[in-house]
Amino acid sequence: MNNVLEVRDVSKSFRGVHALSDVELDVEEGSILGVIGPNGAGKTTFFNVIAGALKPDTGRVHLFGKDITGHSPHRVAHAGMGRTFQLMRPFGSMTARENVITAALTRGGNHRAAARRADEVIEATGMGTWADAVSDSLHTAALKRLELARVLATSPRLLLLDEVLAGLVPSERAPVVELLAELREKEGLTLVFVEHIMQAVMRLSDSVVVFDRGRIIASGAPADVVADPVVIEAYLGQELPGA
Ligand SMILES: Nc1ncnc2c1ncn2[C@@H]1O[C@H](COP(=O)(O)OP(=O)(O)OP(=O)(O)O)[C@@H](O)[C@H]1O
Ligand SMILES: [Mg+2]
Repeated sequence: MNNVLEVRDVSKSFRGVHALSDVELDVEEGSILGVIGPNGAGKTTFFNVIAGALKPDTGRVHLFGKDITGHSPHRVAHAGMGRTFQLMRPFGSMTARENVITAALTRGGNHRAAARRADEVIEATGMGTWADAVSDSLHTAALKRLELARVLATSPRLLLLDEVLAGLVPSERAPVVELLAELREKEGLTLVFVEHIMQAVMRLSDSVVVFDRGRIIASGAPADVVADPVVIEAYLGQELPGA
């Protein structure tokens, strides 16, 4: 068993708010880990800390066996971690394809190689028909795929996804969920995804962790986690009816 990510004793406070407290987590190579929990539980902060956007107050983060604690987002990306953001931010005046090529160029190499990688991920993410549209003109579902394609263009081995389904209507969600399952196979990815849509969490996750007020309150197989009274009390009790 190979862990791509090992998080030990990570804590992070913002002026007295304990956004993360003593977080410990392993992510196995090739697995999909679902991260759930109420608003403000610390899920995005957790991503920020492991991806280098925030330095933890305590604790260590290891990626592929190397200590990356406190490294810049750029270094972490080069070490093989990619992430999408809860708020998407492509360059609006560029076409979708140009955005993907720009992302591919951040991994180094020449324009031709970047364009080739862009073509691959445009195909893999089903962007083909509108790849040459100006990004500003794209609707939410297309922007989500563009966001995925941009991060995939950097060829990550571990991908963090922050609420990629948010803003999609139910009929738009299933194809994205299937796309993620496919990408794990095709790209040999390890995925960690934050999601409030429980159907997607159950379909995709090999295991699930639950955050509440900065702490991991439960983890394990999806079916066990959603049946855990502690999880129902903290989160699912309010979320399930609308999910
Ligand atoms: N940069 C920041 N400065 C100050 N407080 C922050 C900052 N980022 C997060 N917080 C606080 O840390 C706590 C955890 O927030 P976080 O965004 O990680 O939650 P979340 O689980 O991602 O929530 P959501 O489901 O709403 O996206 C919240 O109390 C939030 O207000
Ligand atoms: Mg969040």
